[in-house]
This record gives sequence, C-alpha cells and structure tokens, in this order.
Amino acid sequence: MARMSVKPILLHPDPRLKKACAVIESVTPEIGKLAEDMLETMYDAPGVGLAAPQVGVLMRLFVMDCVKEEGAAPRPMVLINPEIVATSDEKNTYEEGCLSIPEHYAEVTRPKRVAMRWIGLDGKLQEEEFDDLWATCAQHELDHLNGKLFIDHLGTIKRSMITRKMVKFKREQARG
Ligand code: NI
Repeated sequence: MARMSVKPILLHPDPRLKKACAVIESVTPEIGKLAEDMLETMYDAPGVGLAAPQVGVLMRLFVMDCVKEEGAAPRPMVLINPEIVATSDEKNTYEEGCLSIPEHYAEVTRPKRVAMRWIGLDGKLQEEEFDDLWATCAQHELDHLNGKLFIDHLGTIKRSMITRKMVKFKREQARG
C-alpha cells in the first residue's frame, strides 16, 4: 500500500481551474491512490471538499466529508464521474469558501437538496440524496469539474475584486 501524501492545492487564478474535466474510464489503482491523497490533502487543509482539478488533475473526481459535529465519526466520500439526477426547488444560501481561494467567502444560493449518482472506488454505481451543507458542498465540487468556481456565482464586481486580491496574494507568495 502506497503512503498517502498531501498534494499542493492550485490557487485561483489558474487556467487548470477553468477547464472541464475528463470522464474517468475505469477505476484503476492510480485513481484509488489519487482519491486517498486528495482526502489526506482535504483533511490537512482543513476543508470539507476537494476536487481533482484543484490538485492539477483534470479528471471527474471529488472528495468530501461534511461531518462537523465535534467527536462524530468522519465520513470520507469519493465521487467519481458524479452527476446530478434531481434538485429541489427549495434553495439554501451558505457562505462558501474554497481551498483554491483562501480567506475569501461569499454567500451563494443553490438548491437545498440534490440527488447525485456517481461511481465509487469499488467501481459500483451509487446514488444518494444530499441535504444542506452536504448538498452545497457536492454542488460546489461538481462545479469545479466543469471549470466553475463559487465566485462565478457572484456579480462581476465582487468576482473581479476577489480575483485581483488573489493575483496580488499569489505574487506575494511567489516572492516568498
Ligand atoms: Ni472549491
């Protein structure tokens, strides 16, 4: 068993975060290793979700764990080729953030519940209905696989303000 490793997370703006990702044709051991590394990277950050393009892999896979109750058992989930099969008319607004846009948060309104279908690490088709934070997270991560960030749900002014600050942040980071 290969050791898990924390991967560097790409920061916005980055062209790789704007690309539609490719369907995964088969669940290989490499995909398994990628999923393990992504979970490790997500918990280390810490965050509740992470999509493959955020670690520079342009494939349709994301991980999430929205268990937040103190002392509750974690529920690491790996979703390969996820699709939305149904959404509720009822909406929900959450203050969202993203590991690729650190320290920026904004309210985004999305369907309160979504039914999703995906392939698990065992290669089997799975379906589940997500609610509240789980639903928001699943939709946010699925957006990543289509090259969309949460700031793309905001108005132009707010979005360009955050992008400008991120460009500056990355420049400063590069200088060290
Ligand atoms: Ni994100």
